This record gives sequence, C-alpha cells and structure tokens, in this order.
Amino acid sequence: MVTLDKIVQFAKSTGFIYQGSELYGGLANTWDYGPLGSLLKKNVKDAWIQKFQRETEYNVLVDTSILLNTEVWKASGHLGGFSDPLTECKACNQRYRADQLIESFDSNVNADGWSTDQMYDYILEHKVKCPNCGAHDFLPIRKFNMMFETHQGVVKEQADQIYLRPETAQGIFINFKNIQRTTRKKVPFGICQVGKSFRNEITPGNFVFRTREFEQMEMEFFVKPGTELEWFSYWKAFCMDWLLQLGLSAKHLTFDDHKPEALSHYSNATTDIKFEFPWGSDELWGIASRTNFDLNAHQVASSQNLEYLDPETNEKYLPFVIEPSVGVERLILAFLIDAYDEETLESGDIRQVLRLHPKLAPYKVAILPLVKKLHAEKAKEIHKLLSKYFDVVYDETQNIGKRYRRQDAIGTYLCVTVDHDTESLESVTVRNRDTMAQERIQISDLRNYIEEKINY
Ligand code: GAP
Repeated sequence: MVTLDKIVQFAKSTGFIYQGSELYGGLANTWDYGPLGSLLKKNVKDAWIQKFQRETEYNVLVDTSILLNTEVWKASGHLGGFSDPLTECKACNQRYRADQLIESFDSNVNADGWSTDQMYDYILEHKVKCPNCGAHDFLPIRKFNMMFETHQGVVKEQADQIYLRPETAQGIFINFKNIQRTTRKKVPFGICQVGKSFRNEITPGNFVFRTREFEQMEMEFFVKPGTELEWFSYWKAFCMDWLLQLGLSAKHLTFDDHKPEALSHYSNATTDIKFEFPWGSDELWGIASRTNFDLNAHQVASSQNLEYLDPETNEKYLPFVIEPSVGVERLILAFLIDAYDEETLESGDIRQVLRLHPKLAPYKVAILPLVKKLHAEKAKEIHKLLSKYFDVVYDETQNIGKRYRRQDAIGTYLCVTVDHDTESLESVTVRNRDTMAQERIQISDLRNYIEEKINY
C-alpha cells in the first residue's frame, strides 16, 4: 500500500490538496483543496447525493444553517454533560482523546461509549504507550468540550456566544416537522444533508483524516419503531455497496459492529465501516440506529409536539432513526489511497496512474491537439463543445506522450486527441486511461460515447 507521505506529496504537487495558509507559514491541520481536489470533492458529494437521495424513492435533501440556537446544543447533549475524554502524557505533555489513544494502541478495541474510569483503567492495565514518546504514564481523564465557540453581533462584549455546528444532523432533527409537513413524506423516509462541521479536535492529524473543519454527508432515516433493525441492515449494506461501486477495494473495508456493552445509551445497533489506511484500520463511516433519542430530546426541550401521525393507522409516534454519517475528506483520502498506482510498462518506464472511478475523476476528458500550430483551433472548438456537459481540460504543452502521462497521473479518464485526420474525417482518437487503448470516434458521437463510458 502507498504510504501517507507519498499521498500527501502527490496531493500537493498535483493540485489536489495544499497546506492551509501556507504563504504565512501555515495554520496547523488546515488544508486547501486545489483545482483537482475541489472537483474531486464535488464529485464525491454528487455521487453521494445521486445514490442516497436522487435515485431513492425515500429521501429528500436539505441545507440547514451552520449557526443554530444554543438551545439546540443543550438539548442534543453537545453542551453540558456531553464532552470528550482528554488525557495527557506525563512525560511529553502530548494530549490525546482517551478513546482514540486506546484504539490506536489496539485496533481491535472499540472504546466508544466507555466511561472515563473504564478508559483510564484500560490505559493503566494495558500499559498503553504514548505514540509521541513511548512513555506509559498518563494523567487522569478530564472532560473537554469540542464545540467551536464564536460570537454573534458586531460588538463582542454585547454579543451572544454561539457555536459552529459539530455535526449537520441536528439541523435535520429540528426541521423534521417542517420537512415532513411540506413534502408530505410518509414514514419511512429520510433527510440528507451535506455541509461543513467544526470540532475543536484534541488530536487532529493523519493529513485530512481528522481536522477541525470538515464536511459531513449525513442522512437521518425515520422509521416506525420496531422496524429499525431491518432498516439498519438495509442502510449498512447500501453504504458498503456505494463504496465498492466507486472503486474502493473490498479487502480494505470491514464492518466493526459495536458490541452491546459498547453501544451509546440511546443506540440499539451501531457499526463503523473501517478502511485500511496506511497507519492501520480506522473509521471511515459511522452508521447508527439512534432510536428516537434526538427527536425526543428536541420535543422535550422545545415543548413542541414532534410526533408523526401515521395516515394509515391514525397512530401517533416519534419515529426511530437510522443515521449513516461520513466525512467527505476521509472518503477523499481513502479514494486517493486506493486509486494511486505506479505501473511498470513493458519499456521498463514507470507510469503513475490515478485509477479513480470515472464518476470521481476530476476531469473526465482532456482535449489534446497533436501539433499545437496545426490542431489547436479545432481542439479548442471541441473543448467548448464538451465543456457544456463534462469537466474537461485543454492541454497543448509538451509532446503527446508526456501529456498522456500527466493526465494519467491526475486520473483523467479519457484523452481526446485532435490529429491530422480530424479535419477531413471529422473524427478524433480517444484513449482510455486504464487500458491505454485508442479508438477513432466521430466528433458528432463524442458526447454520447463519453456519457456511456462514465455512466454511474
Ligand atoms: N451525527 C453523527 C456524527 O457526527 P461521528 O462519528 O462523530 O458521528 C461521523 O462522525 C463521521 O464524520 C465520521 O465517521 C467521519 O467520517 C467524519 N468525521 C468526524 N469527525 C471528523 C474530523 N474531525 N475530521 C474529519 N472527519 C470527521
């Protein structure tokens, strides 16, 4: 498997991901998505919306606010009682989230839902090592809140303190009634959302795996109580299929079903889809059956009735919820890791090729004039034609072989070359990134041809 250093270097040198605020010496653990990275992000989000919302009969899409009334976070448990367990190495003062420290020490352990005492006992009993300095001594666990604080209003002293959302889910729960009423959706139905979340993480790191600003793709799927475990299995399989369809390797993916004693108090089933990252197996996607915990919490705190009236049975109830929740950047990292390839050609040359699924490839097509002086005009015409429908890139510098290699390395799925016969035959050659095979295609057929090849 490719190393993390290689992926970081590759992402930076090609224009996928740059260090944040690099010009000013950087800002720790922030990343900027360049021309290729922003297209990859867009494509990952599109692919998720396509399969989780557009193509299902069940789901709708929303876009709720990042800033919410502070009462929301009190009701959801994010403020007050709920906070994250912080420990610190006595030797080097490095801080860790205790559950993550334990899981990185033994990837077979899942410390979600453990009490602070359980975690501290485990750290002492198993002589957990500090990943930074190797010492075994840790301070007792303290609770630490990861909510990002900010202020609303112009004058700070007078302003109300508010928080940036740590998940997109609560914006969905507090709009449950609005959405159900306006769409007239009947249970079971789901609400999807893609958007930024912020957490003041204690130990961000591993490139874009854990950051303080990230994007989530979450679905809250509302079901009749008693049917939740069937739906949990349905969405578990659906999420895994989505990853496999988009080209992640089955041998890098596993389900980590949480044992009953490790479940959060409100959950009756939880699993993580784990991916084999270069540092070991780690969480990619959390899928939880959350009962009616969230709707009930908001119903109590707001004193509003959030019950659903079943039009068939006239029964009133608070729906139970299945929630698959995944981070866009974590997915991007997994896709880059599995797609990155260095292939040795018959000539002995190494071909760097990014085998992203065509749906995810930043550019579907590169338009290349064989000889700039002779073919640029026609190539630009074709660029204009295709750019209406696809993300395409035009490249006229250096010889054609180098241009093919450059496009292979950034994952461009097809290369359209305009050559000496293009004017007379009204055709171009189309080269496939993976097979390197070339076909001659009529310009008038190009759009359909490309659509068929990248169909998802
Ligand atoms: N609403 C449920 C929820 O937010 P979570 O397990 O805290 O659950 C869900 O987060 C997913 O969001 C994770 O599986 C991961 O993919 C992503 N995620 C969480 N924290 C992250 C962070 N600091 N950086 C990047 N991705 C993160």
